[in-house]
Amino acid sequence: MTAVIEPEFLLSAAQPEQFPVEAAPEVAFAGRSNAGKSSLINRLTGRDKLAFTSSRPGCTRMINFFQINPSLRFVDLPGYGFAEGPVAEKLVWKALIERYLLERQQLRLVVMVLDSRRGWMKADLAMRDWLDSQGRPYLVAATKIDKLNQKEYVHGMRSIQKETSGEAVPFSAEDGRGTRELWQAITKITNSQPS
Ligand code: GTP
Ligand code: MG
Repeated sequence: MTAVIEPEFLLSAAQPEQFPVEAAPEVAFAGRSNAGKSSLINRLTGRDKLAFTSSRPGCTRMINFFQINPSLRFVDLPGYGFAEGPVAEKLVWKALIERYLLERQQLRLVVMVLDSRRGWMKADLAMRDWLDSQGRPYLVAATKIDKLNQKEYVHGMRSIQKETSGEAVPFSAEDGRGTRELWQAITKITNSQPS
């Protein structure tokens, strides 16, 4: 039995030494800057301000860890593919994300967050190929579907699905569509219950 607890922020890590001791299965959220990772975490947990969100791209520069329940953690990765900012800083983020994805024993699943209006972009495809090469399981959450009309939705989801052999879940942090489906997918892989 798992005790009922509130999801809570654990810590932000700017370097691998600051990662929390591995203690529970983790689901990480990866995607381009501004794709909607933090908003998606907030919607999944039903907590508006759990993960910091912003309309300013590149806002989450550290890896943020959240304890969702005793047997599940969420990990909000810094957005990649951010055009501005010093190159040296970008390399630091890249190294940080790679260390996490390479070394984390408790990592069960990477949710690749794509903006459904844009679909797969170069950096997303590179991340997908890298995850494949590392044997890291992932699924796709296509977010911001509230911004698409029916035609764009059908076309957008089809082209997103085309580039993944796994599941692509249509999602909206705005109206909550896809929340149940995403929880089902997470639960199936981690064996943990929704918060
Ligand atoms: P970084 O932390 O910079 O990597 O960005 P992020 O991927 O965490 O994106 P964030 O959740 O901060 O969202 C970026 C912007 O998109 C914010 O203005 C959000 O309100 C908006 N947004 C995110 N998800 C949705 C959605 O499903 N629908 C709509 N309409 N807006 C969304
Ligand atoms: Mg964020």
